[in-house]
Amino acid sequence: MTPPTAVPMCLPEISDAERDAVLEVLSSPVLALGPRLSAFETAVAEKAGALHGVGVNSGTSGLHLAMIAAGVGEGDVVLTTPFSFVASANCVLYERARPVFVDIEPVALTIDVGALEDRLGRLLAEGARVKAILPVHVFGQPCDMDPILDLASRYGLAVVEDACEAIGATYKGRPVGALGRAGVFAFYPNKQMTTGEGGMIVTDDARWADLFRSLRNQGRDVFDGWLEHSRLGYNYRLDEMSAALGLAQLARLEALLGARQRVAEWYGERLAGVEGIELPTRASWTTRTSWFVYVVRLSSGEARSAAIESLARRGIPARAYFPPIHLQGFYRERFGHRAGEFPVAEDAGRRCLALPFFPSMSESQVDLVCDAIRAVSRSTKAVSSPGAAPGT
Ligand SMILES: Cc1ncc(COP(=O)(O)O)c(C=O)c1O
Repeated sequence: MTPPTAVPMCLPEISDAERDAVLEVLSSPVLALGPRLSAFETAVAEKAGALHGVGVNSGTSGLHLAMIAAGVGEGDVVLTTPFSFVASANCVLYERARPVFVDIEPVALTIDVGALEDRLGRLLAEGARVKAILPVHVFGQPCDMDPILDLASRYGLAVVEDACEAIGATYKGRPVGALGRAGVFAFYPNKQMTTGEGGMIVTDDARWADLFRSLRNQGRDVFDGWLEHSRLGYNYRLDEMSAALGLAQLARLEALLGARQRVAEWYGERLAGVEGIELPTRASWTTRTSWFVYVVRLSSGEARSAAIESLARRGIPARAYFPPIHLQGFYRERFGHRAGEFPVAEDAGRRCLALPFFPSMSESQVDLVCDAIRAVSRSTKAVSSPGAAPGT
C-alpha cells in the first residue's frame, strides 16, 4: 500500500489578495477582454522589460501564435532542443513545419550554441528553409542568448524564447522574455506565478503585438467591425478572472521568487556531498535563476527509478524530468528519431529528478525530503556521481 503523501510535489501560493481580486471581477459585468487583462499585460511586459504584452490562455497558445508571427509554415524548419516540455516542439508542428533538434549543454541544460551553429550551417547548406530559433529557458535558467541572437541576425531568423518556466530570470542582467523577437511565459499552477491556465507573449514589436491580439481573438483586428474577421484566428483569450489572479500574483512575484530561492538554498545545503546526488548547476551567463523546479541528477536511470520508488514508499513524490521530445512515440514515428542522437539531452532525461518544491515549503518539509534522499543514497549505494557545484 502506498503511504499518504508526506509533502506535496508543488503547491500554488494563493492568498486573500488573489481571492479578493477574482471575487471583485465576479461582481463586475466584464468577465472577458476587460481592464484586468490590459493591466496584466502592461505589468508583465514591464516586468520583462518589453514594450508589449499579450495575454493568452496558455503558454502553448502563445508559442503557437509566435510561430505564426514568425511566418513559420509548411515545410519550414525551426531549431529548438529536445530537452523540454513537448509543447515547445508541438507549436512548430501545428504550422506543419519541422522542429529540428539541437543537443543541450550540460550545465543549465539549455541549447548548446556550438551545436546550434553547426546544425544551422548544415541545414542552410542543404537548402532547408530555416525560419526561427526557439530556445527554451529550462527549469528557470536562461539560455546563452547573445550567440543565439547573433546567429539569428546573421541569417535573418526570428528568435522566440520559450520562457514558460523562467519568468523573472535574468541573462547577463537582462530579464528573459523579449531578448529575442518575442517570448512566452506560462502560468499553470506549478509555475512561479499562476493564473490557473494562462500565458503571456511579450515583444518589443508593435506589429507582432497587434497580430497576436488579432490571432488570439478569432482573427479580428482592432478596426474590424462586428463579426468581421481579417484572418484565420483562434480563441486563445485570457479571461478577466485569470488576469486578476495573475495581477495579484505578479504583485507578489519577487516575494514568491525569493521564497523559492530560499527553499533551493535549503536543499543545496542539505544535499551537498550526499553520495550520488548532483546538485543543480548554474551557467556563467545566468545572473538570476527563477527557480521553477528543484532538479537533482542521479548517477544513472536505474538509480533514479530506484530513488523514485524508494521515496514514494516514504510518501515523498518525485518526478522524472524530461523524457526528451525526440524520443516521444509520435516524434520517433514521424521523424525517425532514435536514441543516441542527442546524448546530453538523453543523459539528462535519464538522470534528472525533480523534488517537491514550492514557495511555502518549510525547512522541516525540506528536511523530510532530504532525510529520505540520504536514506535512499545509503541503502542503494547505486547513486554515485561526484559533485557539480551547487547552484544559487
Ligand atoms: C518549457 C515549457 N514550454 C511550454 C509550456 C506550455 O505551457 P502551458 O502548459 O501553459 O501550455 C510549458 C508548461 O509546462 C513548459 O514548461
